Amino acid sequence: MLADVVEHLICPVCADGLDRGDRALRCRGGHTFDIARQGYVSLLVGSRVPGTADGAAMVAAREAFLGAGHFGPLAEAVAGACRTGAEVACPAGAAVVADAGAGTGYYLAGALDRLPGAVGIALDVSKHAIRRAARAHPRLGAVVADVWRPLPVGSDSVDVLLNVFAPRNGAEFARVLRGDGTLIVVTPTSRHLAPLVERLGLLSVDESKERRVAESLGGHFLETGRGLHEFGMTLERGAVAAVVGMGPSAWHTDPGAMRTKIMELPETSEVAASFRLSTFRPRL
Ligand SMILES: C[S@@+](CC[C@H](N)C(=O)[O-])C[C@H]1O[C@@H](n2cnc3c(N)ncnc32)[C@H](O)[C@@H]1O
Ligand SMILES: [Zn+2]
Repeated sequence: MLADVVEHLICPVCADGLDRGDRALRCRGGHTFDIARQGYVSLLVGSRVPGTADGAAMVAAREAFLGAGHFGPLAEAVAGACRTGAEVACPAGAAVVADAGAGTGYYLAGALDRLPGAVGIALDVSKHAIRRAARAHPRLGAVVADVWRPLPVGSDSVDVLLNVFAPRNGAEFARVLRGDGTLIVVTPTSRHLAPLVERLGLLSVDESKERRVAESLGGHFLETGRGLHEFGMTLERGAVAAVVGMGPSAWHTDPGAMRTKIMELPETSEVAASFRLSTFRPRL
């Protein structure tokens, strides 16, 4: 719930702390942000939502696919890395875990399950995603925010920051993390979703992705660990449609043509999941 994390949130207009009123968060300067019926708050100032926000259909596809457990081994790996990070930063257990580009809150909720007493802040620019994240875990507060702008999170307040297939802002990530905090970044490798990528003509991950991740964080973070996580999935056509619908190809393909291609697949497909999980600590 928002009440669990409001002490770590700041006003996106004046950067002052926020207090929780009946139906809104308020700073001392009088800036007020309504709490939505579904329990989340938008701390996005101005009306411009970046074009990268996931739409309703993408979020529904993501919830269906993740809910079926197909990426379960990755959620386990992320939760394990969060626990290690939290134990370093916060041995007493009351860690603050944030997720930048949290989507439906799936990975953050998995981490909170493994960290009794920790609280979570889900940040995403998509209202559709944040609405779902708001009910992903009882100790999670969900906030609409843009990773490309100053994050509405206090400096030095986060013990573990997650970033799973989502945009990165090295300077802001370093500001909100405590000096002994951990940043966990998950990116797909070029083998992710083989052989569907080729068979369906999906957007592929280019080989320079890893270099770009390092470049975007390099000035602010030092890499402390890196692991490859790969597993096989047996996907029925419905699950294939969901994984396509939740991914970047959903922006660029004609849905009718994609449906036809998916119907031409065998009843089930063997598909690879392949991710890189890297951990970083802030440069002091
Ligand atoms: C590929 S999804 C990953 C979601 C989640 N981490 C997961 O793996 O299930 C990318 C997410 O980043 C969000 N996003 C895109 N641009 C953003 C921005 N500028 N600020 C915050 N979130 C953003 C999208 O709305 C979407 O939920
Ligand atoms: Zn304010």
